Amino acid sequence: MQSYTVAPAQSVRGEIAVPGDKSISHRSIMLGSIARGATVVRGFLRGEDNISTLNAFRAMGVTVDDDGETLRIEGKGLHGLSEPSDVLDCGNSGTSMRLITGLLAGQRFFSVLTGDRYLRNRPMKRVIEPLGRMGASIFGRAGGDRAPLAIVGKSLTGIDYVSPVASAQVKSAIMLAGLYASGETTVTEPHLSRDHSERMLRYFGADIEVLAGGVKVRGGRELHGRDITVPGDISSAAFFMVAALIVPGSEILIRRVGINPARTGILDILIAMGASIELLDCRELSGEPVADILVRSSRLHGIEIGGDVVPRAIDEFPVLCVAASLAEGRTIIKEAKELRVKETDRIAAMAANLRKAGVTVVEAEDGMEISGVERFMGGEYDSFGDHRIAMSMLVAGLAAEGDITVNDVECIATSFPSFTDLLGRVAVR
Ligand code: S3P
Repeated sequence: MQSYTVAPAQSVRGEIAVPGDKSISHRSIMLGSIARGATVVRGFLRGEDNISTLNAFRAMGVTVDDDGETLRIEGKGLHGLSEPSDVLDCGNSGTSMRLITGLLAGQRFFSVLTGDRYLRNRPMKRVIEPLGRMGASIFGRAGGDRAPLAIVGKSLTGIDYVSPVASAQVKSAIMLAGLYASGETTVTEPHLSRDHSERMLRYFGADIEVLAGGVKVRGGRELHGRDITVPGDISSAAFFMVAALIVPGSEILIRRVGINPARTGILDILIAMGASIELLDCRELSGEPVADILVRSSRLHGIEIGGDVVPRAIDEFPVLCVAASLAEGRTIIKEAKELRVKETDRIAAMAANLRKAGVTVVEAEDGMEISGVERFMGGEYDSFGDHRIAMSMLVAGLAAEGDITVNDVECIATSFPSFTDLLGRVAVR
């Protein structure tokens, strides 16, 4: 088990680029594989989660050439995947497991998906149940709610699904199944979750319509391979935004970050807390909006966070908790129950770590209340096997009284293998 130690910083300064967006990187492999013709991907995130997706499609007969810079995917067409000869291992990646399950439900073959001990403990019924209504035949542990999942490909029929959760993984799994279903498949959700699947499906020529509060796909239409440039991941940029905000005298410019409106909850929340954040040179890359983000250290104050913004900032809550801990007054996070079923229970994990760091945290079933302090206490903290908990606590180390050590940091490689190098580069001591 590896640990990593961060010492307090004088300031955080520099100009950086963060690696490619994880969600878009997953989808580029999936759609590239089932499209006709080649898809060339630039800026692909080489994190373990995305490599799990890449390996799964290679195991289903897709050729992907990687020259270290770009990926070239030789698309097989909608019905060109072949039966994998072994179990597909999704590692720690919920996106791989849930989206691939949707895509495999309508294939003409049998497949089995598994993952690491964290992923095997995450709820899968949220995709199995609607896919079952489409005619899919999927089996799993715990009455079908836990991986390993066994999928017997079936012919599917479109459904009109009203999702009880704002989840891009649920929405995308159903849409991908919908590509193989007869008729129309509609998904509506309580709040808008990230829409990268919708955007990329349209970019690849799918028969798709975005509705108020949902999306509709018509099955049977072939997709066409495209060139994709993946923007920087705003979820990775968030660690550096918060680092610059909480260490006085800091200024950081993060280049080429994706600012899809379904992902910019972090910007809205931090700005509402008093953050100095500017978006420069806003432009578009392969159907996704992008900007350079300039952040200067700011005196933050507590706010109440809930409602629509929650799915728009869902992966940023661990690092938002770090920002809230050093803000003046109280921050209330509510309607964020989904945090309990991420890579770990992120409410419990952050509450435990922040309390240890001297912060007063009151946990609720769907969120928490954080009362700001001046500085964190140094010491040893746990990642709970979750990359975003690990990185958040290392950012906290920049604004602590003493060194912060985080144990079990291997998980950082799932989404941001270069994180500690980059953090070391911008921290001025
Ligand atoms: C993702 C959707 C979100 C997010 C995850 C990536 C995606 O999960 O937390 O990191 O790529 O679709 P949910 O759909 O479960 O909210």
